[in-house]
Amino acid sequence: MKLDFDGEKYKQASSQQKAWGKTLVSELDLKGGERILDLGCGNGALTAEIAALVPDGSVLGIDASESMIKTARADHVATNLCFELQDIDAIDFDFQFDVIFSNATLHWVKDHRKLLENVLRSLRDGGTARFQFAGDGNCSNLIAVLRKVMSDQDYVGYFDKFEWPWYMPTIEQYRALIEEVAFGEKKVWDQNGDTLFETVEAMIRWIDQPSLVPFLGHLDAGDRQRFRDTVVERMIDKTFRGDGTCFETFRRINVLVRK
Ligand SMILES: C[S@@+](CC[C@H](N)C(=O)[O-])C[C@H]1O[C@@H](n2cnc3c(N)ncnc32)[C@H](O)[C@@H]1O
Repeated sequence: MKLDFDGEKYKQASSQQKAWGKTLVSELDLKGGERILDLGCGNGALTAEIAALVPDGSVLGIDASESMIKTARADHVATNLCFELQDIDAIDFDFQFDVIFSNATLHWVKDHRKLLENVLRSLRDGGTARFQFAGDGNCSNLIAVLRKVMSDQDYVGYFDKFEWPWYMPTIEQYRALIEEVAFGEKKVWDQNGDTLFETVEAMIRWIDQPSLVPFLGHLDAGDRQRFRDTVVERMIDKTFRGDGTCFETFRRINVLVRK
C-alpha cells in the first residue's frame, strides 16, 4: 500500500492526534525494559516519547508512508528507537512484543479480524495492546461534504473504482469482533473527542493532511486543486461558528487487550 502523506506537513497539522496520543502514552503501565511496537507511527513524535519511557527496552515504529518515516528518522534519534517502512496489514511477528500501541491510525486498516490475529501472534504472553482509532460518527461533516463533492458531475467519474479509505465501526460491532479473537482480557470503550478547531486555518491544515490525501490521488493533476478548494469551502460553510472556530465530530474507539 502506498500512502502519499507529507511528514513535515503532518507535524504541523496533528496537534489533536498528539493530544490524544499523549494521554494514551501516559496510561501505558511501563516498567522500563519492554519491547514495544507502534503501528502507524506517523512522524514518530509519540514513538519517541514511548522510547524515553523504556530506557532498558526498545521501540519499533512502523508506517506505510515513506515521507512519515523519513521525517520520523530525521527528528527522533535514540539508541532504543527504530523506524521501518512497513504496512500494518503485513505485520509478521511471533511473540516479540510486550506492548503494541497505536494512536489515530487503525481506521486506515480495513481488515481488523486479520489485524487482531496478527497482534495476538506478535505479543509475548502477558503482553498488552492499546489502540485508539476512529469509530462510527467520526468526522461526520467532512464525510458528508466529501460524499457530496465526489458525486458532483465534474468529479464523479474519478471515483468509479474508488475504495473508501476508512473503517469506522460502531462500538457494538467492534466489541463483537474482538470477542472472536483469543485475547485473555478485552476492554473496548468509546470516547467523544468532538473538537473545536481554534481557527479556520487549523481546520484547513487537518483537511489537507491527512484527510484529503487518499482522495486527491484519484484526480487528474489539473482538477486536484479545485476539488480540494471546493471541499475546504463547503467545510467552512458547514462548520464555521461566529466566534472564529470550526466544529467537527471526532468519535473514537479505545481498545485494551492482554494476551
Ligand atoms: C493520523 S496518522 C497518526 C500518526 C501517529 N500515530 C500520531 O498519532 O501522530 C495515521 C498514520 O497511519 C499510517 N498508516 C495508514 N495506513 C497504514 C498501513 N496500512 N500501514 C502502515 N501505516 C499506515 C499513515 O501513513 C499515517 O502516518
